[in-house]
Amino acid sequence: MTNEALVAEAWRAREFAQASYSKFSVGAALLTKNGNIFWGANVESSSYGLSVCAERIALFSALTAGHTTFERLAVAAETPLQIFPCGACLQLLSDYAGDITILLSKSSSEIMIKSLRELLPYPFGNRHFDSNS
Ligand code: THU
Repeated sequence: MTNEALVAEAWRAREFAQASYSKFSVGAALLTKNGNIFWGANVESSSYGLSVCAERIALFSALTAGHTTFERLAVAAETPLQIFPCGACLQLLSDYAGDITILLSKSSSEIMIKSLRELLPYPFGNRHFDSNS
């Protein structure tokens, strides 16, 4: 699958965002190593802190469908500033997807490409506590 096609999936996923509080809709599309695509979109709550980002929903959806190896993630949001996944999502992506490629799209014609390590260069991981047990 091309980067452009995966980004287009993220824009389609974005249409399902439940973002009535922030009015900031985000879509994500996570490509597994065997070619499946899992969508995510942000889901917000009247109790604001319960809101969940698009990236985490895509990741949790893939994991709970039994997929554990990932290749690329696309994130789409309409914004003048470049969008990047938040720190919490980067941590979870690092835990479950390792150093995947992340495609960032702030308009349907633009794609910035980063590795997870570029966005989270010094990740915490289970190696920090496995050696203690
Ligand atoms: N959000 C995401 O879904 N992904 C990001 O990468 C950044 C922020 C959501 C969370 C919240 O619903 C809204 O955007 C505003 O923060």
